[in-house]
Amino acid sequence: MTKKIQIFDTTLRDGEQVPGCQLNTIEKIEVARQLEKLGVDIIEAGFPVSSPGDFNSVVEISKSVNQPVICALTRAVKKDIEVAAESLKYAKRKRIHTGIGTSDYHVKYKLGSNRDEIVERAVEAVKFARKMVDDVEFYAEDAGRTDNEYLARVIEEVIKAGATVVNIPDTTGYCLPSEYGEKIAWLVNNVPNIDKAVISTHCHNDLGMATANTLSGVINGAGQVEVTINGIGERAGNTSLEEVVMAIRCHHSLDFETGIDTRQIIKTSKLVSTLMRMPVQPNKAIVGRNAFAHSSGIHQDGVLKNRQNYEIIDPAEVGVKESAIVLTARSGRAALKHRLHLLGYEFDTSALDEVYGRFLELADKKKDISDDDLEIIAGKSKKTGRPPLELVSLQVVCGKTTIPTATVRISFRGDEFTETASGNGPIDAAFTAVVNLVKRRVRLEEFLIQAITRGSDDLGKVHVQIEHKGDNYYGFSANTDIVTASVEAFIDAVGKIA
Ligand code: KIV
Ligand code: ZN
Repeated sequence: MTKKIQIFDTTLRDGEQVPGCQLNTIEKIEVARQLEKLGVDIIEAGFPVSSPGDFNSVVEISKSVNQPVICALTRAVKKDIEVAAESLKYAKRKRIHTGIGTSDYHVKYKLGSNRDEIVERAVEAVKFARKMVDDVEFYAEDAGRTDNEYLARVIEEVIKAGATVVNIPDTTGYCLPSEYGEKIAWLVNNVPNIDKAVISTHCHNDLGMATANTLSGVINGAGQVEVTINGIGERAGNTSLEEVVMAIRCHHSLDFETGIDTRQIIKTSKLVSTLMRMPVQPNKAIVGRNAFAHSSGIHQDGVLKNRQNYEIIDPAEVGVKESAIVLTARSGRAALKHRLHLLGYEFDTSALDEVYGRFLELADKKKDISDDDLEIIAGKSKKTGRPPLELVSLQVVCGKTTIPTATVRISFRGDEFTETASGNGPIDAAFTAVVNLVKRRVRLEEFLIQAITRGSDDLGKVHVQIEHKGDNYYGFSANTDIVTASVEAFIDAVGKIA
């Protein structure tokens, strides 16, 4: 039977420890709610004893989230555990995550202790936590570098003491995937009561192997993975949620499943990146800007023929609208033709050759070719026929104490129609008027206004992207009046709907 892997998200604890990534309580609640939508099983909401702010965040997240278990981190210290239990008082489902270092480095140099004493402290902490909550997870810090026989002894004792989950962190990101997998297998085979607890992975990415180690752990018997959005976390970060979830989803032969709604992945990634002011590297797996962008001509041609030629994931599965065909000097005719088609231009083979020649000339000088550039290359005259929709006149009323209203007059194949609408601003009002006129259900996907040069009297360029029945349409205009440019661009896009 397919095994369900528990997703334990620690973005708000291990992820938030990163300098500069701190969130306030309101921001943490927003992330926690999005994690709930994403479908994570456990949210590690903070380390309550570390500061009043962290304590308060755990309290507020506990009140705001219903489905996931809320977890609070502690050291193997009674005071920490009491404070954690207090912070979880409003949680519908709660867990205390307590633990201590078990590697010889931690035992000797960090804790100044010895192996027997560490076992005692671990057992005491788990027993104490179990008096307060039913669900207690134990972490053996630096388990990645802990001798397996000693680790098995600690784990056996904490399970006897009542631990429901045993976390085996590769705290320093040291292990190789084979080594980490063998460690988990060792525990499965050498801890007599291991069936009484779930084994959890917690891998750091110091050698870039966090995802591989986590998967190796799961393949060898772990039932929970500790992950963060975008892989954020201490130093090189933690295992990234999206990588593990999508690897499990792509590899059916593993026979694992997660309860993650993968279509929420991009939204969650963007939210975390924005709130934490932590940009995602463009080539980051799954969530990077280029993760579904194809720029070489051979790849673009292959993707346009059948996306599976070069994509193992349908971008829609993770919440990306479509794979991007980035036009550069390496793009081929097929990609250029496709993009021109979306912009409303159609060329026969010989005309396309000519446009392609001009495109290559420009692409040699410029890294990426934008839609504006293509408009210029293609030339307005080459556009197939006259645009079906045109803006005849536009009048807007707006101001600080006025309800923004727009009256739009358009011509449709020679006949003229007028509509007035209000909105939250003049552009919104005008767009609504256009939508009412054309009676098409469209969603504005992107709206970009750029000043071409410096002065306030210069041209503003507007790009819009709209969606209608699953297809995207692009519109462009430039005008010294940005409201007019916006409405023209919108009409340009709407007019491309067949
Ligand atoms: O990396 C680690 O060992 C941790 C523990 C506190 C779980 O984050
Ligand atoms: Zn960690």
